Amino acid sequence: MNELVRLSKVLTLVFCLVILLASVTLLLYYNPTLFLHQEVPTETVAKIPMIKLWKAPDTAAIPKNKEGERIRYGRDLVARTSYYLGPQGKVMNISNGMNCQNCHLDAGTKPFGNNYGSVASTYPKFRPRSGTIEGIEKRVNDCLERSLNGQPLDSLSKEMRAFVSYIQWVGKDVPKGEKAPGSGFVEMKWLTRAANPAIGRKLYLQKCQICHGYSGEGQKLSANSYYIYPPLWGENSFTTGAGLYRISNFARYIRANMPNGATFEKPILSEEEAWDIAAYVESLPRPLKNFRQDWPRVELKPVDHPFGPYADSFSEKQHKYGPFKEILEKEKK
Ligand code: HEC
Ligand code: HEC
Repeated sequence: MNELVRLSKVLTLVFCLVILLASVTLLLYYNPTLFLHQEVPTETVAKIPMIKLWKAPDTAAIPKNKEGERIRYGRDLVARTSYYLGPQGKVMNISNGMNCQNCHLDAGTKPFGNNYGSVASTYPKFRPRSGTIEGIEKRVNDCLERSLNGQPLDSLSKEMRAFVSYIQWVGKDVPKGEKAPGSGFVEMKWLTRAANPAIGRKLYLQKCQICHGYSGEGQKLSANSYYIYPPLWGENSFTTGAGLYRISNFARYIRANMPNGATFEKPILSEEEAWDIAAYVESLPRPLKNFRQDWPRVELKPVDHPFGPYADSFSEKQHKYGPFKEILEKEKK
């Protein structure tokens, strides 16, 4: 009898263990990040749900007429730039193989994924980089030349008209002069120290290399195909004249979007990690493009613009990696 009682106790225990194991497996299956270390940033989580984020219009509502055709073509140009305009481009060969969507996620509609929500409502506008009033065409060509290391499109070309139509359609519901909540990049605090490429390298190898490659070269399905993972540095990546070459832009972009799948609500990198990884990636070689005519008023240059001349006496290195606090404090005075 005693034997039987003991046996049934053991069986109950085994049964409980099996149930426990099964539940943990199921939990992890549905929420794989459950036990991963994730620093949930209280500042973003607390603030952002209060505002109503901008949402792009539904693509099903694109009109079925000539203008609608242009909008759809523009959207496809953003998503599959390489297919049309890349090194083996079907229409032209004027860019490096990246897609606009690599940096303007979900065809420029993702919250804090560098979306196009505020473009239609705020352009034409004065931009201190060129010191002129720019239309959407100029802004698109800026990214073509700097981010895609390419050539500008003629304003009247079919492709430019399509880019502009799409960008205007995406932002059509945002009142003129207003900014769409969630456009651009997520806000981040400046580090009090300089961002550190050596720490960034370790993090890069753990968190980014698997997709973007040991040498930041990205991955293609085959030599002539498009990138499934775009390059982060090296000859096929964005140039030193690109907006993403500024460390704050890079850090704020990856904070809310990388590793791919992260969102501003569920970031994977801490702010500090984002700064250090940005420092590592920006310390490596990439195509040099120097736009000498940029920043005609030098005092309007952003604090982390990595090329002089500056309105202050801090070094190029400090302007590139920080610490930024003392530069900013001096600027205030
Ligand atoms: C390597 C990343 C990258 C790629 C690729 C890229 N862009 Fe950009 N783009 C940026 C960044 C970064 C900014 C913001 C720059 C800043 O604010 O300094 C930007 C800004 C813009 C803006 C202005 C957004 C605003 O709210 O003011 C437009 C329009 C734009 N890009 C269009 C394009 C188009 C069209 C393409 C493809 C032909 C493209 N971009 C490809 C990084 C990229
Ligand atoms: C699971 C794969 C994956 C991982 C891991 C990943 N990325 Fe990405 N990354 C992507 C994809 C895919 C895109 C392009 C997104 C698109 O086109 O929709 C991208 C785009 C980018 C871009 C903009 C395009 C470019 O080439 O400059 C940057 C910058 C970037 N990733 C940085 C990082 C960093 C830094 C990490 C590590 C913290 C990281 N990524 C981890 C898949 C990944």
